[in-house]
Amino acid sequence: MTRPLLERDRELTTLVDAAREAVRGIGSVVLLHGEAGIGKSSLVSAIRSELPDGTRMLVGSCDPLSTPRTLGPFRDLTDAVGPRLAQALQSGERDQVMDALLAELRQPPPSALVIEDVHWADEATVDTLRFLVRRIAQLPVVLLLTYRDDELSRDQPLTQLLGDASHAEQVHHLSPQRLTGPAVRQLVAGSSLDADEVFALSDGNPYFVSELVASAVGSNVPPTVVDAVLGRLRRLSPAHQDIVELLAVVPSSIDRQLLDALVSDHSATAAAEQRGLLTVPCNPDTWSSAMSSLDEPSLTPFRWPVASSSTHGCWPRWKGLTLGGGFKGTRPPLLPPTPAGSSITPPKRAT
Ligand SMILES: Nc1ncnc2c1ncn2[C@@H]1O[C@H](COP(=O)(O)OP(=O)(O)OP(=O)(O)O)[C@@H](O)[C@H]1O
Ligand SMILES: [Mg+2]
Repeated sequence: MTRPLLERDRELTTLVDAAREAVRGIGSVVLLHGEAGIGKSSLVSAIRSELPDGTRMLVGSCDPLSTPRTLGPFRDLTDAVGPRLAQALQSGERDQVMDALLAELRQPPPSALVIEDVHWADEATVDTLRFLVRRIAQLPVVLLLTYRDDELSRDQPLTQLLGDASHAEQVHHLSPQRLTGPAVRQLVAGSSLDADEVFALSDGNPYFVSELVASAVGSNVPPTVVDAVLGRLRRLSPAHQDIVELLAVVPSSIDRQLLDALVSDHSATAAAEQRGLLTVPCNPDTWSSAMSSLDEPSLTPFRWPVASSSTHGCWPRWKGLTLGGGFKGTRPPLLPPTPAGSSITPPKRAT
């Protein structure tokens, strides 16, 4: 059974409108971004049935490989495109691929071309997308690029692509937000779980909600969630991992004084916030009172720590608060319990 996609009406409307424009020959770029598990791929799946009649959907994905697959997402399309582009993709010759892609997309039918997870794109893919983005307005195409914005680094060629895309004649930014309490309640309905606890644990990240509901154990964090949290931790530098591990042994929240005593390098705090490993409150007063209801977690000692959704991972709120003052507290990540559940052990660092 397919679960309903909640609180995504605005995003779906934007995507369908862009596809309708493509049918009229006016192409556009849609940048769909957000943290892991926020529901980017779910939106991609959902638009398939909403596209205007006669629009074809082409989907290619980038993969997290240590040796990137050159033109990987375009090669995914080989069976769905005409012989000229298929041959060019087989040859792997970039100029040929670009020319053939343009020729393919100029022809009817209109296309919804989705490239998933471009934060992992190889350089040839990025170049090809830049080439396409510059011509998109004249094509019957909606080009949908999805990416995790907390995995972008400044020096990637991808930054140039996103810069180009942002200046395209027709561009839409979609950054789906975490689910609200009522939406989480709806997803939890029918399970044995307490909706408020699931909301507190997941902070509305749809992936974590769905994993908690699927495991429906209540007292244990699903291993998939543990892996995802540790995956985020391991993407920090070793020095920053040490600091987050140190903060993680503090049971729930930590005030500024203690934080300053424990941590001298606040770039670690900013990096951890950017990776979604801890929360720095937007309004410290509101946050403090919100924290008091969370201080005694009854479900498990683990709570999914939340990054600011308003900054889209680009400018850690920590920095702003450090510069502007007004900070009162932060919530560190509570790492999953050891198998015995008796104490928290720092996870092994990835080599
Ligand atoms: N709006 C939503 N309403 C209900 N459930 C959702 C929603 N969005 C996503 N989910 C659930 O969350 C899970 C994760 O979503 P999805 O795979 O789309 O995230 P993602 O942003 O593509 O993550 P990643 O960056 O890891 O690829 C889905 O399998 C789905 O069960
Ligand atoms: Mg995805």
